[in-house]
Amino acid sequence: MTFRSVVKGCGAYLPEQVVTNHDLAAIMDTSHEWIVERTGIHQRHVVEDGDYTSDLATRAARQALLRSKIPVESLDLIVLATATPDDTFPATAVTIQQKLGAHAAFAFDVHAVCSGFVYALSVVDNFIRSGQVKTALVIGAETMTRLLDPNDRSTAVLFGDGAGALVLQAEEVSSKDKDTQRGVLSTHLYSDGRFRDALYVDGGPSRKTMGYLRMQGKEVMKHAVEKIGDSVKKALEFHKLTPQDIDWFVPHQANIRIINAVAKYFSLPTERVVVTVDQHANTSAASIPLALAAAETDGRIKAGQLVVLEAMGAGFTWGSAVIRW
Ligand code: UT7
Repeated sequence: MTFRSVVKGCGAYLPEQVVTNHDLAAIMDTSHEWIVERTGIHQRHVVEDGDYTSDLATRAARQALLRSKIPVESLDLIVLATATPDDTFPATAVTIQQKLGAHAAFAFDVHAVCSGFVYALSVVDNFIRSGQVKTALVIGAETMTRLLDPNDRSTAVLFGDGAGALVLQAEEVSSKDKDTQRGVLSTHLYSDGRFRDALYVDGGPSRKTMGYLRMQGKEVMKHAVEKIGDSVKKALEFHKLTPQDIDWFVPHQANIRIINAVAKYFSLPTERVVVTVDQHANTSAASIPLALAAAETDGRIKAGQLVVLEAMGAGFTWGSAVIRW
């Protein structure tokens, strides 16, 4: 018996506090024009004092459960993708488990920074495919603004906070319908630690410091288009699909220049690319599920359509996922 992980519902949460480029230009040496031209970002949501990654994640998860009409008691697994956990341990996923009251599940975090959601989706999908898990929650949630150095304008303008979640459930694959049946069709993951120094936080529990996010922006940008393009190309080849078969391209939202360059490489029209970077900025592991929730809520992504996800970030880590929604 083979199983496929079918998306049953998605949810999102963005903090109410919105910080515009103009707000940032009032407190640091930057401008709305520079930020829009170099990144496409107009604003970002910033977590309120007293709220943590688990709070954002729990709100997104509750919405996903409500929309999927799946009771919290049915959850077997919760996987959280985050680089900004509440505490060093336990995993923030178990804090979410407690807040949700999902006592029948097991829960853990996946740490792959901006690629975190694609990594977490892959882990969940493999548990479901193997038959070990029937119903799972996969969440991407971040409070990235807590890692920003206010004196480093090259990174302080780029990131925002938020959370997105998907409920996935196992459905048996029948060989006759396997080409049209809904679910995660594949995930492809990659990493290359030789690029560790291009994007990192210069602190952590073992170093006994909190640290700030540091990035060689040009170096990351140079590799992003090539690595993302390559992972999407391999995924399409794996399924014998062409870019024309993609209904929705939902990329990690780091920079509109990267998104446009990849879309151009595959000749994807902008109408089939989901963009939220203008409103959310870069929310790391939360960016893809936030974009999925936005496009499903407004009626763009519909059941049965072919959705391709991709992400690239610190490590470097990168990867893609193909989903029949
Ligand atoms: O999600 C993880 C993956 N992350 C990414 O994909 C990010 C990839 N990188 C990028 O998005 C871009 O490299 C940035 C948006 C970070 C920067 O764009 P860039 O075109 O690579 O600009 P740059 O770093 O070469 O900087 C150009 C100029 C510099 O001034 P000089 O040396 O030319 O005089 C910077 O000092 O822009 C200056 N600059 C700024 N000016 C106004 C840097 N940050 C700012 C700022 N406001 N916030």
